[in-house]
Amino acid sequence: VASAKRPSVIWLHFQECTGCTESLLRAEHPTLEKLILDVISLDYHETLFAAAGHQAEAARKDAMKANKGKYLLVVEGAIPIKDKGIYCKVGGQTAVDMVKECAADAGAVVAIGSCASWGGMPSTGGNPTGASSAGEVLGKVIPNIPGCPPNPYNFLSTVVHYLTFGKLPDVDQLGRPKFAYSRLIHDNCERRAHFDAGRFAMEFGDVGHRKGYCLYKLGCKGPETYANCPTILFGDVGCASWPVGTGHPCIGCTEKGVGFSKPIHELA
Ligand code: SF4
Ligand code: SF4
Ligand code: F3S
Repeated sequence: VASAKRPSVIWLHFQECTGCTESLLRAEHPTLEKLILDVISLDYHETLFAAAGHQAEAARKDAMKANKGKYLLVVEGAIPIKDKGIYCKVGGQTAVDMVKECAADAGAVVAIGSCASWGGMPSTGGNPTGASSAGEVLGKVIPNIPGCPPNPYNFLSTVVHYLTFGKLPDVDQLGRPKFAYSRLIHDNCERRAHFDAGRFAMEFGDVGHRKGYCLYKLGCKGPETYANCPTILFGDVGCASWPVGTGHPCIGCTEKGVGFSKPIHELA
């Protein structure tokens, strides 16, 4: 993947918690420093930038001009469209205008996280700002790497595929790469035998919970959630696990309309 001229990546942050970037910071193969120093040229990223203010915006514009039609645009966070987009501005520019401007000359656009993929957390509770996905704002299906946060390797694999083959991987009807989001969590869960045998945790901390029984009756959304969490796991440092592995039901964070991707007032 490494080449003399590293491919330019422009990374935008909008309505979000930066957890997606935090997730990527914890990847070990490759590490983030290997990625941004040897593989890609990260030309704009508000969290990781040393520059600030006008310098940062100038770097973005320079990178867009120098890599017109070739740079990879990554969108983290939802984009508020209500009231002409005034609820999120960067350098005086609304998120709506910025994402459209940056997408116009991008070689490819990828949405990272459930906020950018479906609106996520910012779109809950009646969605007062009109928080929308990057795909909705751009008016097209773009590759979505949902999750809150997503697994960093699902994002990195998508980027490496793009850099290696010059195109993005195959996606499902929701724009999610099939290599990561084509299998039900429920079908790969280590608690599945308990589900099939009717052994359930009924309360957090009860005997069933402590014995590792199925979490379905605590609200697990594994039977309706497509993601590779049980097989790829999170965290590389000896204690890799995933939500259900640690005793918490899956909340369906990779799905549109499941868990908090539904407005809060619709949640049970
Ligand atoms: Fe944060 Fe989740 Fe949104 Fe990522 S998807 S920015 S982790 S709220
Ligand atoms: Fe399915 Fe969730 Fe039970 Fe695992 S814990 S078997 S994903 S319902
Ligand atoms: Fe999200 Fe469920 Fe995986 S909550 S991280 S899709 S186990």
